[in-house]
Amino acid sequence: MTAAAAGNHAALMDRIYRRQRYIYDFTRKYYLFGRDRLIRQLALKPGARVIEVGCGTARNLVKIARRYPGVKLYGLDASSEMLSTAARSLAQAGLSGQVKLIQAYAEALSPALFGETAPFDAVIFSYSLSMIPDWKQALRLASASLVPEGTVHIVDFGDLKGLGRPVEWALRIWLGLFHVAPREELLTTLEVASKGELVLLSGRYAFVLSGTAEQVLKNLEGPVAEGSQPPRKSES
Ligand SMILES: C[S@@+](CC[C@H](N)C(=O)[O-])C[C@H]1O[C@@H](n2cnc3c(N)ncnc32)[C@H](O)[C@@H]1O
Repeated sequence: MTAAAAGNHAALMDRIYRRQRYIYDFTRKYYLFGRDRLIRQLALKPGARVIEVGCGTARNLVKIARRYPGVKLYGLDASSEMLSTAARSLAQAGLSGQVKLIQAYAEALSPALFGETAPFDAVIFSYSLSMIPDWKQALRLASASLVPEGTVHIVDFGDLKGLGRPVEWALRIWLGLFHVAPREELLTTLEVASKGELVLLSGRYAFVLSGTAEQVLKNLEGPVAEGSQPPRKSES
């Protein structure tokens, strides 16, 4: 991303969320499905260092801190508007000391952004890859920011293909209003080549994926390996 494009993207995110952030947590529980499943699957040990990229209001970070005492949490987001709500939520939950927040781009992700030299143990993308312009670069840097056995956890919109054409297209138009674009290429590659655990929600509305960086990201850049079927579950 050029500096100008980067500045524009942050401004765009701020415009989208300036008012939305006040109703974000309440409204999104009705359509950002799979987030709690992802949190349950994290299986973090005390002391684990975990970053959420595109952390928004810190809804997930608060839940992770409560479920996994002793983890060290980091949140990165392009929108300073979202981050001000995140900071308030963390303070209200008494978690300000446990979570570091920073305004930055996923496309520049590195532990150094937080003044850290040690890599992360896990990286989470919860409905953020569908808004991050260079989502492949974000995944590349996530992988580079992890310990060798570090894990990647993604929940995001699927290709919506099981919902029926009219619903699919209505949903696409509505998501477009929020500058959300389901990453179909990502899902296709994961379905064919990922060795991580991939769960598709009903109607292929969303997917939840967990695995090591190696398992999850290996085939994202190159041709998809033929004949390798991932462990996959479908849920209604
Ligand atoms: C739909 S919200 C998801 C928030 C949160 N992860 C959740 O599950 O509730 C997407 C978030 O990604 C952030 N975002 C979008 N593009 C980004 C980028 N390039 N770098 C960092 N954050 C970005 C937005 O500002 C927004 O807070």
